[in-house]
Amino acid sequence: MSRASRRGDEDDDLHRVIDFVEDEVPFEPGYYNEAYLGRRIAARMQRRDADDHAEYRDLLERDDEERKALLDALTVNVTGFFRDPDMWADLRSVLRDLSAENGRAGVDVWSAPCADGREPYSLSMLAADDDEVDERHVSITAVDISEEALDAARAGVYETTRTTDIEEELAPLSDPEAYVEREENVFRVRRSVKSRVSFEPYDLISDGPKSGMDLVFCRNLLIYIDSEYKEPLFETLRDSLRSGGYLVLGKTETVPPGMRDEFKPVEKRSRIYRYTG
Ligand SMILES: C[S@@+](CC[C@H](N)C(=O)[O-])C[C@H]1O[C@@H](n2cnc3c(N)ncnc32)[C@H](O)[C@@H]1O
Repeated sequence: MSRASRRGDEDDDLHRVIDFVEDEVPFEPGYYNEAYLGRRIAARMQRRDADDHAEYRDLLERDDEERKALLDALTVNVTGFFRDPDMWADLRSVLRDLSAENGRAGVDVWSAPCADGREPYSLSMLAADDDEVDERHVSITAVDISEEALDAARAGVYETTRTTDIEEELAPLSDPEAYVEREENVFRVRRSVKSRVSFEPYDLISDGPKSGMDLVFCRNLLIYIDSEYKEPLFETLRDSLRSGGYLVLGKTETVPPGMRDEFKPVEKRSRIYRYTG
């Protein structure tokens, strides 16, 4: 068999795994780009010593635990407190301006998606940590498609492990212990920080926009989304913002060409934009 037709068979088998995910796993693979799906599936195959996609599909059919592990791998929820610290440093002045402009009317923030909550909690902590921001009038709505991520977010308990150093993640704060209660390697977000954040399940591709947001975070989701869904997702973000509101993207994400006129970079390196519409 030629190499090209072997590769063709492997592609077909990958599609059979993706079809299986679509039918049997509570995840919508159609939203995500194939390169991303292929990488996540390959990582699970390596973990389970499956030599090819056909073998892995058989494994998925008979092994409940592997279906759960694959779902976990597909809904990547890598995150962190103050992920990309340069962005958070630049965000301080945006938050100060919004706090000064809006006064008692308050600052409405959307963290979409929020994963295990460290992004919205970072914002809540920053608001309290900065003397020029009136944190009493900051309100954050944090959403994610994953119920498991939202449960972790509501609990607000994080642990330092071999790969995650929570103390280091909280370093941008002047007094981290004012915001988390620490017991050895376990960090519990304090009630005052939680009080500014509410969590809700949300599918950013199909659930449509919010409205009147002053600041929207959509970081590290667009990179996984199939190009067909990027523009509609962006419309959801845009329509959620009030005129003059701010949008923050992930470090490697950009505004689609068709919408660049509507988003003026405030800090290009940090991917903070102002909506001019
Ligand atoms: C890599 S995390 C990003 C978290 C955070 N914004 C950050 O940058 O650290 C991606 C999150 O997107 C969520 N997600 C994936 N598809 C989604 C969708 N259609 N609607 C809402 N959330 C989604 C996943 O569950 C995951 O928690």
